[in-house]
Amino acid sequence: MDLKLRDRICLVTGASTGIGRATAVLIAAEGARVVATARSLSALGSLPDAIAEAGGVEPVLLATDFTHDGAPERLVADALALCGRVDILVNNAGGSRPMARPDDQDAWQESFQLNFRAVRRSSELLLPTMAERGWGRVINLTGAVVAKTLNAATPAKAALESWSKAAAGHYAARGVTVNCVAPGRINTAQILDRIHPDEASRQDFIWRNIPMGRFGEAEEAAALIAFLASDAARYITGTTIPVDGGALRYAF
Ligand SMILES: NC(=O)c1ccc[n+]([C@@H]2O[C@H](COP(=O)([O-])OP(=O)(O)OC[C@H]3O[C@@H](n4cnc5c(N)ncnc54)[C@H](OP(=O)(O)O)[C@@H]3O)[C@@H](O)[C@H]2O)c1
Repeated sequence: MDLKLRDRICLVTGASTGIGRATAVLIAAEGARVVATARSLSALGSLPDAIAEAGGVEPVLLATDFTHDGAPERLVADALALCGRVDILVNNAGGSRPMARPDDQDAWQESFQLNFRAVRRSSELLLPTMAERGWGRVINLTGAVVAKTLNAATPAKAALESWSKAAAGHYAARGVTVNCVAPGRINTAQILDRIHPDEASRQDFIWRNIPMGRFGEAEEAAALIAFLASDAARYITGTTIPVDGGALRYAF
């Protein structure tokens, strides 16, 4: 299937590693010009070569830390100044935040800033520009939205899904879609290094939750993101699609 991404401009946040990096490479391989972000330019150092190997055009690299005040505003202004427009916004930067203390105010603040406010702000700055051109895609990475343990990311991701649905309705008649992709357990640094650092915990989780019997790969999430970014997905909006190997329980 031709995803018709040639000449599209796609901003992917958190593209240094994991799902964001796989998405940046795939969408670039499909012909789009990618604007890739991470907190430091050095973290993005090997991305241009990976994109070139996949046959994509050279990406624009920008350093952005979304926990800093004004970061979404600066990022959007820089992306528009360098590329003229953004057609596709993949809000991928984010992460799980298990809490050592239930009342850790800094953890709540940091997680909502990264996982909800920065995503909403970047989107609300770009959505009107997409609507003016009559074409646009916003794809937000969420995850579990009902948790069994305290995790400062879960309510933030729930807020993001709720906001995304409302934004999707607001822009639906103007050629712009807003969707969420909810990974279950994908083999990335946060899952392998922090959430399931040992093999026993991975196997136990898989046995209890994942009928496919394995964690997913970043490329398997990127495939859905690229499809949602495409013209073929124009009648899909306001929804959340899991990439989770058929997980039996979503509230983990
Ligand atoms: N992997 C999973 O199974 C899973 C499950 C549920 C939800 N998700 C969601 O999917 C998305 C990607 O997950 P992942 O596992 O691929 O993550 P990851 O491997 O931990 O990568 C996270 C990316 O976000 C960037 N980032 C982190 N903190 C940032 C900040 N303060 N400002 C700007 N950028 C920041 C990182 O860049 P630098 O560190 O280089 O700055 C990195 O590129 C996240 O939103 C995550 O919540 C993933």
